[in-house]
Amino acid sequence: MSGLRTVRVPLGERSYDVLVGHGARSELASLLPTTARRAAVVTQPGIPLEIDPGIPFDVFQIGTGEDHKHLGTIESLCRSFARVGLTRNDVVIGVGGGMVTDVAGFAASVWHRGVPVVHVATTLLGMVDAAIGGKTGVNLPGGSGDGGKNLVGAFWQPSGVVCDLDALATLPPRERRCGNGEMAKYHFLTGDDLLAMDEVERIARCVEIKADVVASDEREGGRRALLNYGHTLGHALEIETGHEIAHGEAVAVGLVYAAHLARVLGRIDDARVEQHYAVVHGAYELDTRLPDGVDHTRLLSLMAKDKKALTSLTFVLDGPAGVEVVPDVAAEAVLEALAAMAAHG
Ligand SMILES: NC(=O)c1ccc[n+]([C@@H]2O[C@H](COP(=O)([O-])OP(=O)(O)OC[C@H]3O[C@@H](n4cnc5c(N)ncnc54)[C@H](O)[C@@H]3O)[C@@H](O)[C@H]2O)c1
Repeated sequence: MSGLRTVRVPLGERSYDVLVGHGARSELASLLPTTARRAAVVTQPGIPLEIDPGIPFDVFQIGTGEDHKHLGTIESLCRSFARVGLTRNDVVIGVGGGMVTDVAGFAASVWHRGVPVVHVATTLLGMVDAAIGGKTGVNLPGGSGDGGKNLVGAFWQPSGVVCDLDALATLPPRERRCGNGEMAKYHFLTGDDLLAMDEVERIARCVEIKADVVASDEREGGRRALLNYGHTLGHALEIETGHEIAHGEAVAVGLVYAAHLARVLGRIDDARVEQHYAVVHGAYELDTRLPDGVDHTRLLSLMAKDKKALTSLTFVLDGPAGVEVVPDVAAEAVLEALAAMAAHG
């Protein structure tokens, strides 16, 4: 098919292809394992993308939203797989955004102790992030110290991924914004001018950057943390606003904050801070302001609890050697950068 880009995720015997382009779903059958006699398609109501895996298949709908991303959904999917006789040679196909591909991937990782999974990403965030890299899982509901987001899961690489840009035509504007928030971070991870690329090229390049990082650190022991650029303040804002601000929107604010913090620490200059605004606000038209009335000291204490911060305040920050993990950041610098950001306008 013309205009289709293929990006390889190089992981030795677990390597796979990601097909990016308008109409890429027509190539889905080529990504399925040759052993598969039937497929279990996991999706959600309201996802309009029709697929044809080229083998007999059953469709299983899961609920929409994070409230349905739990172990009960995995159990009910596995019961459905049992009912249709899905064998260890067959395949699971996740068709949806990050919620669906996380759930379908995790169900595939435990069904018969692991069956192949292929993802068809239908959100921008799924295409540039969630469907690539093999992290799967569900939330443990419960807010009193015995629960949390994505706490139960597995590393389970797909056998292939389809990013069909036709799906983006029906994506609600807020979901598109959230995808743009994640996409914006890739602008700072390499020297590429992503804005000069058309949409297919740009998404394919983001996939390539993620593939490169994942290939060098499949299980998140080090370099993979770079993919959390902008996420430290982002997570704190999600919690502080009771998730009124969505993940990708929070990452957008977090990206410009990370630039201010790097500036306070003398790692980058004012012009580089402005480049962050130019991408996040200028090109993607995302809001870069801190929400009104948000308490800086509260944000500081939430950021100190970030999962990267094992022993000290730790951030992913831009600098002379590019974006890297920076431990032991002083609380005063964190607050100074919040103040600088609030004053920036
Ligand atoms: N595994 C990873 O590496 C990774 C990375 C980032 C995020 N995630 C996970 O991804 C999830 C968020 O993913 P998301 O932002 O794609 O949200 P989502 O999967 O919840 O989808 C958002 C909404 O858009 C709808 N939708 C999906 N595709 C559509 C389409 N083409 N047209 C119309 N509506 C469509 C969905 O039904 C849903 O209502 C979170 O659970 C997060 O934890 C995982």
